[in-house]
Amino acid sequence: MLDPRMEQAINEQINREMWSGYIYLSMATWFDDLGLKGFSHWMRVQHKEEETHSLMMLGYVSEAGGRVLLAPIAAVDTEWSSPLAAFQEVLEHELKVSAWISELVDLALELKDHSTNAFLQWFVTEQVEEVSTAKGLVDTLKFVDGNPHSVLMLDRELGARAFTLPAPAAALGVL
Ligand SMILES: [Fe+2]
Ligand SMILES: [Fe+2]
Repeated sequence: MLDPRMEQAINEQINREMWSGYIYLSMATWFDDLGLKGFSHWMRVQHKEEETHSLMMLGYVSEAGGRVLLAPIAAVDTEWSSPLAAFQEVLEHELKVSAWISELVDLALELKDHSTNAFLQWFVTEQVEEVSTAKGLVDTLKFVDGNPHSVLMLDRELGARAFTLPAPAAALGVL
């Protein structure tokens, strides 16, 4: 049985992961509007990843005997001053998510909840990758400095991103 504090904390993160996805979906529509289909595709994959994270947590809570309570998703921005500004927000957002995941791990350790701690370790590793990818794209966009030719080359590269279902998501049977 999940401790009520752990149950509530994961429920909050379920909401934040959906919210993260919503932010990236909003960025996808903004990139669509700019005609940058590759950037938009990258953001759609990002949206799907966040939705998957949320569904993995949802699956875990019910498997662990807890109750999932879905809350309203907060509003998101709808435009950014440049592709660089959008990716700077991605980086800041992912750093924030990493801190939230760390807080969940702290709580699991405090409660001696080893199964939740084990479940959360996948997210700890995932966040390192998320932050690193976002940082890499911020650096690239800074280097490109709005050069249209380079932005279009990057658009083609980002358009090739593929979504892969994480192994724990398949194991939890949530999709
Ligand atoms: Fe996530
Ligand atoms: Fe993320």
